[in-house]
Amino acid sequence: VSPAEIAAEAERIRWYQTIDLGGGVVTKGVDDTPKRLSRLRLPESLAGSTVLDVGAWDGFFSFEAERRGASRVLATDHFSWSGQGWGSKSGFEFARRVLNSKVEDLELDVPEISPSTVGTWDVVLFLGVLYHLRDPLGAIEKMAAVTSRLLVLETAVDLLFLRRPAMAYYPGAELGGDPTNWCGPNIAWLEAVLREAGFKRIECVYRHSLARRLAFSLSRAGNAGFLTALARGRAVIHGWK
Ligand SMILES: C[S@@+](CC[C@H](N)C(=O)[O-])C[C@H]1O[C@@H](n2cnc3c(N)ncnc32)[C@H](O)[C@@H]1O
Repeated sequence: VSPAEIAAEAERIRWYQTIDLGGGVVTKGVDDTPKRLSRLRLPESLAGSTVLDVGAWDGFFSFEAERRGASRVLATDHFSWSGQGWGSKSGFEFARRVLNSKVEDLELDVPEISPSTVGTWDVVLFLGVLYHLRDPLGAIEKMAAVTSRLLVLETAVDLLFLRRPAMAYYPGAELGGDPTNWCGPNIAWLEAVLREAGFKRIECVYRHSLARRLAFSLSRAGNAGFLTALARGRAVIHGWK
């Protein structure tokens, strides 16, 4: 199949993630996924590791784990594959074919993730999913139950000026105009909940800087008040068993 044919087929799909399919073809995702990859501090080599990608959508991070040598990768999703979201599984299936990937897939919603449905995995990726969930505490406990070594958790965060563990609740479409966003924990909440869930070492490897949050607040792009926006951002946490 020629790059032109791959490009034409990719054009017909509505992508969330930006994925390099080779031959100069890059999917037109609404998300700048390569930029988010650098924040995750994934081990350069995942050789011999098994990796579970929960809420994988188009599969960018699953394919990346495979590229880094993972011995087995499982991508799971539901909401954006065949649930109420605007997405579909077409991007994942098309990219997997074009990349000649062996990533496995399982249609499962987050509450259905457990050792009995997926087993346990060396590395679990839980990226951009937590704040969409009505039961974030239960979701972290579920991730802990299927992680044997490292959980990589990327999420929207809020209340960053509070030192005590706390979480914001977003009625309606309060966060970013998206009614599927429900909660914004602070870093202290994430650390405390991960510790209670059995992770021995917890490390915040990325968080939006104050300068970046200040620029965003001043732009008023998020439609929130200045101080509200200043307390919000994104963070990446590593939890080690
Ligand atoms: C922002 S996307 C992140 C996709 C991918 N993990 C990434 O980081 O690029 C949110 C993901 O959470 C999944 N999800 C699971 N439960 C959801 C829910 N109740 N509402 C919205 N999204 C949900 C979606 O299917 C989607 O794959």
